Amino acid sequence: MSDLKRTDPEVYEAIRKEIERENKKIILIASENASSKAVLEAQGCVMTNKYAEGYPRKRYYGGCEYVDIVEELAIARARSIFGAEHVNVQPHSGTQANMGVYFSVLKPGETIMGMDLAHGGHLSHGSKVNFSGMFYNVVSYGVSRDTGMIDYDEVRKIALEKRPRMIVIGASAYSRTIDFKRFHEIAKEVGAYTLADIAHIAGLVAAGIHPSPFPFCDFVTTTTHKTLRGPRGGMIMCKAEYAKLVDKGIFPAIQGGPLMHVIAAKAVALKEAMMPEFRIYQAQIVKNAKQIANGLISRGYNIVSGGTDNHLMLVDLRNKGITGKDAEAALDLSGITVNKNAVPFDDKPPMITSGIRVGTPTVTTRGMKEPEMDKIVEYIDRVLNNIGKEDVYREVRVEVEGLCKRFPVYENPSPLPSPLGGRGMGEGRIFK
Ligand SMILES: Cc1ncc(COP(=O)(O)O)c(C=O)c1O
Repeated sequence: MSDLKRTDPEVYEAIRKEIERENKKIILIASENASSKAVLEAQGCVMTNKYAEGYPRKRYYGGCEYVDIVEELAIARARSIFGAEHVNVQPHSGTQANMGVYFSVLKPGETIMGMDLAHGGHLSHGSKVNFSGMFYNVVSYGVSRDTGMIDYDEVRKIALEKRPRMIVIGASAYSRTIDFKRFHEIAKEVGAYTLADIAHIAGLVAAGIHPSPFPFCDFVTTTTHKTLRGPRGGMIMCKAEYAKLVDKGIFPAIQGGPLMHVIAAKAVALKEAMMPEFRIYQAQIVKNAKQIANGLISRGYNIVSGGTDNHLMLVDLRNKGITGKDAEAALDLSGITVNKNAVPFDDKPPMITSGIRVGTPTVTTRGMKEPEMDKIVEYIDRVLNNIGKEDVYREVRVEVEGLCKRFPVYENPSPLPSPLGGRGMGEGRIFK
C-alpha cells in the first residue's frame, strides 16, 4: 500500500479522484496541460527538503551541490531553447516572474502599459485588483472592435501619449500571432522597456511555431505549466545587461528559498521540449485548435478575431443567447471542461461573461487529433443547443467517457517518447 494512502487516506482519495477526473473528461482549459510522469516524478522528489537561497554556486546554505546541478541544467536548457542570454528559473509562478521583472527596473508609481484584462490580458499586467495595478500607474491597450485583433497603430498612439516605462506584451486569451518586433519598435520610439509574457505560448515559441520575442524584447517571462507542459511555476529570461537586476528582483526582493523540486521538474520539462517530437506535438496543438475553430464557425459560432493561430480561441456566445457561465456549467455536466471568459467589449460582468475560452494543449497531450476535434465540436454544439436538458448532458457524457477511454492521460499520455508510456497512475502507484 502506498505511504500516502496509509498516512492520509483523505488526500490520497482526492488525488485518486483527480486522476480519474483528468482521465474521464475532455479538458479544454487553455492554460492547463497534463505533465509527463517524468515531470511529476521530479516534482515529487526529496529536493523539496532543501533550502537553497541564492543562485547556483552562490548559496546561503551548505549542501547545495545536487540542487545546483538541476538548477544549472534548467538554466542551460532554457537558454538553448529560447536563445536567451540570461535565465532565472526560480519564480514560483507566472505572476511572480512578472513581479520580479517589474521590481528589477521599475520604481513604484512608474507607468506600465499592458493589455486590458477585459480584452485578453492578464491580472499581473496592471489590473487594479492585482499588485501590478496597485504599485504602478497603468495604461492599457486592447483589441480593435472591428477585427478582435491588436491594433498596433492604436498601441503606438497610446504609447506616444502616455510614455510608459515598460510595455507588457502578452495575453491569456488572445488567439492571434503577436508581433513582438512591432511592439519593440513602438517601445524604442518612447524609450520603454519591453516585457513579453509568453506564459500561454511558451511551448509554441520553444518549438518555433510562434515567432520568438528574442532578440526584440528586453525581458521575457513565462509559466512552465501551460503549453510548455512542465510543473506549475514561472521563469524569467532577459538580455545579459539585466541579469543581475532580474536575479535580485526575485531573490532577495520577492522570494526566499527556491522550490528546488519544482526546478528539477522544470529541467525535465525543458529536456522534453528539446526532443524532436515536441515540435510535432506543438504543431498538433495548433492544428487541433484550428480544427475546433473551423468546426465551430461552420456551426454558426462566432470566434473572436475569426479564428486562431495558436492553441486557443475565444467563443463569443452572444448570437446564441447563452452566457459564458451557463455554457461552462452545461458543458462540465456533459464531461467537457472549459472556462467562461469575457469577450472584448463584453456587456456582462466577469462572473457571467458572454464567452468561453477553448484550448487544445491537454487533449493534444492525450494523443487526440483532428477526427477527435470534430467529435468535440459536435458534443459542444449538441450541449449548447440543449441548455437545461439533463438527458442530453447524460448522453454526451457517456460518449465523452468512451472517447476519453481511448486516450487515457496517464497511460498513453502523449506523442512524446518513453519514459512517459507504461502503465497508468492507478491506485497504489501514485507515488511509486
Ligand atoms: C499571460 C499570463 N501571464 C501570467 C500568468 C500567471 O501565471 P500564474 O497563475 O502561475 O501566476 C498567466 C496565467 O494564466 C497568464 O495567462
